[in-house]
Amino acid sequence: MRTPIIAGNWKMNNTIADTKALITDLIPLVKDAKAEVVICTPYTDLATAVEMTKGTNIKVGAENVHWAEKGAFTGEISANMLVELGVTYVIIGHSERRQYFGETDQTVNARVKAALAKGLKPIICVGETLEEREGGKVEEVLVRQTTEALKDIAKEELGNIVVAYEPVWAIGTGKTATAEVANDTIKIIRDTIAKLYCPACAEEKVRIQYGGSMNPKNVKELMSMPEIDGGLIGGASLKAADFSLVVNY
Ligand code: 13P
Repeated sequence: MRTPIIAGNWKMNNTIADTKALITDLIPLVKDAKAEVVICTPYTDLATAVEMTKGTNIKVGAENVHWAEKGAFTGEISANMLVELGVTYVIIGHSERRQYFGETDQTVNARVKAALAKGLKPIICVGETLEEREGGKVEEVLVRQTTEALKDIAKEELGNIVVAYEPVWAIGTGKTATAEVANDTIKIIRDTIAKLYCPACAEEKVRIQYGGSMNPKNVKELMSMPEIDGGLIGGASLKAADFSLVVNY
């Protein structure tokens, strides 16, 4: 019912030369994928990635977007600029942005609105820290992050939104949430969307990915869970062989 979506998040990796080599290798390896395939790259690689993936089944995403149309925001990039490049998706609210760059639930919501207004599809990241999990706050945190991110977003937009559940303690640590924990936690997010909109909206429209040390070894088990609609892949998206194994799980 919900088409699986596997997205790479390159983070601050890959020069243009690296991008050319990686995408050249990747195209033939993922051409028959059942899942939707996305690579989210640094701004400087986007034009190259879009150009190279034209006519393939790979879509390109950015890793952030500013909420304003234009203006005095040194160093920022607007939704229009991404659309003009041919970008389809944009990651919003990654935990690294929340942790290191002052991203809040409110700025996440502002970015989501700006992206949707220009036809970009947001991949909204939510997830608890280890402290929050150990303190029994998982539900509270995820309900809050999901509710705030979707504030004032119309029901009609839900089909254009992907949510990525990324437990902060599983990112880049080699620690994956067990398939059961990931599934149960994603259910909390889906139930929240059902309450905010309607059960069918949450069931049919919104795809929810798992992210956090997802790799060729654990992808099959994670993807076999009913609530997990895809993955947001960091480290394992930087090598064509590894990423293609995840994509073709
Ligand atoms: P890793 O796959 O490297 O743990 O990163 C996950 C992530 O943050 C994807 O956005």
